Amino acid sequence: MVISVIGVGYLGAVHAAAMAELGHEVIGLDVDAARVDALQSGHAPFHEPGFDEILQRGLASGKLRFTTDYTDIAGADVHFLGLGTPQRADGFGADLSHLEAATESLRAVLPSRDGAPTLVVGKSTVPAGTARTLAAGLEQIEGVTLMWNPEFLREGFAVKDTLEPDRLVYGVRDPEGPRQAVEMLDAVYAQLLADGVTRLVMGYETAELVKVSANAFLATKISFINAIAEMCETVGGDVTDVAHAIGMDDRIGAKFLRAGVGFGGGCLPKDIRAFLASAEENGVGQALGFLREVDMINERRRAKVVELAGEMLGTVAGRRITVLGAAFKPDSDDVRDSPALDVADRLTAAGAEVTVTDPQALDNALRRMPELRVQSDLDTALRGAELTVLLTEWSEYRELDPSRAAGLVAAPRILDGRSVLDARRWSEAGWELRALGRGPVAPAPDSAAEALART
Ligand code: UGA
Repeated sequence: MVISVIGVGYLGAVHAAAMAELGHEVIGLDVDAARVDALQSGHAPFHEPGFDEILQRGLASGKLRFTTDYTDIAGADVHFLGLGTPQRADGFGADLSHLEAATESLRAVLPSRDGAPTLVVGKSTVPAGTARTLAAGLEQIEGVTLMWNPEFLREGFAVKDTLEPDRLVYGVRDPEGPRQAVEMLDAVYAQLLADGVTRLVMGYETAELVKVSANAFLATKISFINAIAEMCETVGGDVTDVAHAIGMDDRIGAKFLRAGVGFGGGCLPKDIRAFLASAEENGVGQALGFLREVDMINERRRAKVVELAGEMLGTVAGRRITVLGAAFKPDSDDVRDSPALDVADRLTAAGAEVTVTDPQALDNALRRMPELRVQSDLDTALRGAELTVLLTEWSEYRELDPSRAAGLVAAPRILDGRSVLDARRWSEAGWELRALGRGPVAPAPDSAAEALART
């Protein structure tokens, strides 16, 4: 099939290359000429494991290309809409302007296939009701049908999640209506369906709600365990043990119970806010009011890291602090709403001399915060630190050797903002370790005096 993917940001670029991988002829379109040029020359504009390979394979096979020109995509059988829906500048709602503009530009080049069925498939995360509104305009054009097919990929696993999804959700105008559009989308995903992936057909609004509900549930799970972390800090307790024990109940499940500095990124924070805004617009704000609390718990974790840093140092003003991590999560160079960068910013505002290190995300971090002091070499970043704060759990930080690291820093104090370090091992190597939701771990008596003598 000939497929277009309109909007080749994170989601769209991965989708386009994955569709070429499935054997389709794919044209990715974006209004950002620099992004299109980068992709067309085989350079991924972001860090995503496995993406470079499928991009280059698609380009080399001639099945994948990129353009800025809508007339190039006019003849496609299926047009995917992969536009971003960021938070609006003036509130919590989703900014649908990119999606609306792209739909208008697409309308202008349709129909181009003499009335042959043409499928437009929305993949963006949108408030319930968006698909029905867009369909009203698009379906006036002969042969055009709109479906909504939300995407559930995770950064860091984007290629795998696209080619081996847990499920495919098809949102249609009328689940009991004609099947032609469903069959067309089945043809796009034929290989995945043959591999046994479940496909669920439902109404537009249900499909839109599946997507936002999934993200809201994940955010709620994280904030739930972070709320328990607050309790542990107050009454004495270890949140990692609580998470481990409750996660063994398979009705609860162990995933997404990692307490720490909380969630960030381009999806969960803006999606829960947009969901809340949409509920309020529909007069059911109370039903989703708890999402405001989910957001506030998440926000408080960042403030807690700064408070703990202050406790460990007496004051952070004028002190040298090294922050491990800038990306919102490991295996990504995405710094959108990154808890790590936000904490670095707060520490800087409180007068600390902050150095941030990250294996992939420093360029993006500097684009967002040009005044940030960054250091790409981990050892150099650690040198002279009076406090080290781990905020993104890259494997190189999880696997840091505490004895070697103690030889680099000015003082062996570490704040584990993701609860990934072996507290005993670090304490035995002479470190004072604090983690969110866990009591203080004092250095082991023997090594402590020796290591702290150097501070
Ligand atoms: C999220 C969803 O997981 C995807 O299913 C969805 O498709 C995507 O948003 C989207 O809407 O596009 P992603 O933003 O890539 O994916 O990241 P997650 O893996 O969900 O992590 C989000 C944040 O939660 C990260 O900052 C991570 O560090 C944090 N997190 C995750 C925790 O603090 N604790 C956990 O236990 C898990």
